[in-house]
Amino acid sequence: MNRVLSVTSECAPLVKTGGLADVAGALPAALAPTGWEMRTLLPGYPIVMKAIKPGKPVLKIADLFGGPASVHHAKAKGLDLYVLDAPHLYERDGAPYNDADGKDWPDNPERFAALGDVAARIAADGAGDWRPDLVHAHDWQAGLAPYFLHQRKIGVPSILTIHNIAFQGIAPVEYITRLGLDRADFNESGYEFWGKISTLKAGLNFATRITTVSPSYARELLTEEYGMGLDGVLRARAEDFSGILNGIDDVVWNPETDPHIASYKTPKGKRRAKAALRKEFDLPKSDGPLCVVVSRLSDQKGLDLLLEALPALVDRGGQLALLGSGDKVLESRFRAAAAAHPFISVKFGYDEGLSHRMIAGADAILVPSRFEPCGLTQLYGLRYGTVPIVAYTGGLIDTVIAATPMALRMNVATGLSFHPTTSDALARALLQAVQLFADPPTWEKLQKNGMRQPVGWEASAIEYARLYHEATAAA
Ligand code: ADP
Ligand code: GLC
Repeated sequence: MNRVLSVTSECAPLVKTGGLADVAGALPAALAPTGWEMRTLLPGYPIVMKAIKPGKPVLKIADLFGGPASVHHAKAKGLDLYVLDAPHLYERDGAPYNDADGKDWPDNPERFAALGDVAARIAADGAGDWRPDLVHAHDWQAGLAPYFLHQRKIGVPSILTIHNIAFQGIAPVEYITRLGLDRADFNESGYEFWGKISTLKAGLNFATRITTVSPSYARELLTEEYGMGLDGVLRARAEDFSGILNGIDDVVWNPETDPHIASYKTPKGKRRAKAALRKEFDLPKSDGPLCVVVSRLSDQKGLDLLLEALPALVDRGGQLALLGSGDKVLESRFRAAAAAHPFISVKFGYDEGLSHRMIAGADAILVPSRFEPCGLTQLYGLRYGTVPIVAYTGGLIDTVIAATPMALRMNVATGLSFHPTTSDALARALLQAVQLFADPPTWEKLQKNGMRQPVGWEASAIEYARLYHEATAAA
């Protein structure tokens, strides 16, 4: 078996704030059949420490950015983990990146530099009797792993995967020494970004290969419009940069075995799930499509556009049930919309079980993102016969076959898509959804095509394995 160390700040089902956790959690099992053994290096947040039985540490560090640390090799929830126990960095209440009030931890630069530092130590000296052939780092939180590998001349190659270019790991210059970076690399081809440090940029410049989570987002990232200032860096490395589409865990997301719902594979089962969902959201009966949103509430997700476009849906008998957490302004705007219309109902917070019941019970799932590296909820929708209505951007382009006249005639369409990402275009897509829904044979075709679409990890795991081989051969 070849060995790869995945370096990530979140990993489902142990700790999750978004899709990164799902991907990091699914990759090891997906890769196993390709001959790559993946172990995952994860910060020892309280929730992670609680889930493992720490034995004798495989690595001890007397001073890791201001305190002692140790690495434990442990198995939990099917994952093979290296947990970085560093109480001064991770032992605190709140979320992985912020305190209970949503404020970023001021020492985030050290907290995640530590992760990259320890990844490089494991690559250099091994942990126990295991030493990786390759390091796979995710997002800015692991961006310094490729940097430290380079700085310490450890001949282990690395992959950096961009899950979202909007988060760039920015720190002021004072951190150069504090994080153990070389001042000589504070330049355009190193980690310097507009006079500050960017750990993501460090990863982009020093990783052997770079990937992102869909081919379309990879293309978009090369443009000024989507690159968020890093498009030039990516253009310079275009030959080493590619998109590999995310899959979903098709055991967790399987309508026939899902413990959160009464299982179904027939339209009758779906109708039952829908009735239960209406009840749960206090929505009356109606002939129009019941649409859901399960999302972080942030500018990226385009939900302000949905607020403007909603009349196109609810004034024609359609309904909306939303589950979200994040931006408080958006939250209150959705609350007001729900108070003003009986066909709109919203819940806030993070609720895994409810997200399953919603995706199972709805007719359609809305993803009107301004940009979307891959997106997972549209993939869940496909699996559950819940038609995705998506913006034509990023991974949403690559995962949904839009109901154009020709795609309908050829019976290959799996969803609806709209372009540009404006409230008018979204309103037109909602209108199209209402019309297609009123034609049950056509709607059923969309559902059936979607349920047949392969959304698991098989194909993408093979692509990662191929890239891992390429990177190890290049090093
Ligand atoms: P992102 O990572 O940008 O948030 P993704 O679509 O890739 O977007 O992944 C989001 C993940 O988080 C999905 O698994 C989705 O079901 C889940 N999710 C988002 N918001 C909630 C919520 N409020 N409750 C439960 N699950 C949520
Ligand atoms: C990011 C992106 C999302 C992607 C996820 C997992 O959070 O916003 O589109 O699906 O990472 O790769």
